[in-house]
Amino acid sequence: MAVTSASRSPVRVLIVGAGAVGCFYGSRLHRPDADTGEHVLVSLVCRSNYAAIVERRGVEMRTRAYGDYLFSPEFVFPSIAAASEKGIRWDYVVVTTKALPDLGDDSSVVSPVATPQTSIVLIQNGVGVEEPYRRRFGADVQILSAVTVVSAEQISPGIVVQNRWTRIHVGPFVKGRWDQSGTVIGENGPDHLAAKRFVQMLKDGGVGDAEACTEQQLQVIRWHKIAINGSMNPSAVLSNGTPNAEMTEDDELRHHLRQCMEEVFRGASAVLGIPFPPAGLATADKLLKSIGRNTGARPSMLVDWEHGSRMELEVILGNPIRMARERGVEMPRLEAMYGLLKMAQKRRDEKVRDNKERHLQTKL
Ligand SMILES: NC(=O)c1ccc[n+]([C@@H]2O[C@H](COP(=O)([O-])OP(=O)(O)OC[C@H]3O[C@@H](n4cnc5c(N)ncnc54)[C@H](OP(=O)(O)O)[C@@H]3O)[C@@H](O)[C@H]2O)c1
Ligand SMILES: *[C@@H]1O[C@H](CO)[C@@H](O)[C@H](O)[C@H]1NC(C)=O
Repeated sequence: MAVTSASRSPVRVLIVGAGAVGCFYGSRLHRPDADTGEHVLVSLVCRSNYAAIVERRGVEMRTRAYGDYLFSPEFVFPSIAAASEKGIRWDYVVVTTKALPDLGDDSSVVSPVATPQTSIVLIQNGVGVEEPYRRRFGADVQILSAVTVVSAEQISPGIVVQNRWTRIHVGPFVKGRWDQSGTVIGENGPDHLAAKRFVQMLKDGGVGDAEACTEQQLQVIRWHKIAINGSMNPSAVLSNGTPNAEMTEDDELRHHLRQCMEEVFRGASAVLGIPFPPAGLATADKLLKSIGRNTGARPSMLVDWEHGSRMELEVILGNPIRMARERGVEMPRLEAMYGLLKMAQKRRDEKVRDNKERHLQTKL
């Protein structure tokens, strides 16, 4: 028997970080007029694009997969405080900020809207992104962890372009919440069910290749993505902006990239306690081949560097390095790139600050 949307109270979703990924998935989840599946109402917490989105009465979406449309959220908030004042009980708080633990702890940002009835969904790159949330909220709050492959960009405030195919995996992050012997961590435990429900909501919104998985499977996917992002992104920056495919065609760099990937595989194996990559996931050679075919691709870490923005160094390099090191595995190539890029970023930011101060002084 079909449950009509009118017979159920709507699912309330709050997106924190209304950038490319947040607006893309938010716009697919939002189904104010659903006649099948769940009735989902999505709201946005914005920052720099608040005025632009209010003025446009939504976010202008230009998508490869779903055409062009205006995404008009239920509410658009200028801050978390404003969202919290509304007094809504959010079912899902979806975090789609860039993961920059070196700049601040985003778990403190979402704290005013997180309740024991809320699932926090982290759609971010890297590994170790869940830990600050578990530390802050303890066992009380449900955390879902998601990895996506999507090529999306906010080309100007309130305009989001999605270029290619999408893929998203969602799994529970139960570590530190349920003791490992409990049945609640099983396939029918509440955290798994919340992940499955979220995936169903994405599917209802037309995201065909959304997939629910277990905690371990999700972490495997996160680490496997590090083999790509931990090798390609920093190398693209350090080679002065060489696109991915071109790097794989250079003998010396190809060797370097393969060795980086092997390092990540050894680290992942030690951290997750399984042979890596497990059956079904691409080896270093396969990864290099497919990266070589994808001409023109430039990692977002490179774009961030060129824009003078913060790079996601900690979750893509720092956390994997530290997690592997704790288990006695060193990743010397990644460690070198991490140390060099962290310092390059620091020097760049210092120079910008000095220039601004000098500019200010000459004005006075
Ligand atoms: N874009 C992709 O194709 C893609 C693909 C796979 C994975 N990812 C991952 O997805 C995550 C999000 O990436 P993205 O490309 O969507 O980044 P993005 O376009 O830069 O969006 C991040 C948004 O979060 C906002 N934000 C940051 N801190 C905030 C805070 N404290 N309160 C409110 N808003 C805040 C930013 O606002 P401001 O404009 O004010 O800074 C920005 O609008 C990253 O981890 C990325 O690696 C992205
Ligand atoms: C991670 O790698 C993918 C595939 O090359 C790329 O599209 C994405 O921009 C990379 N992410 C970052 C943070 O550089």
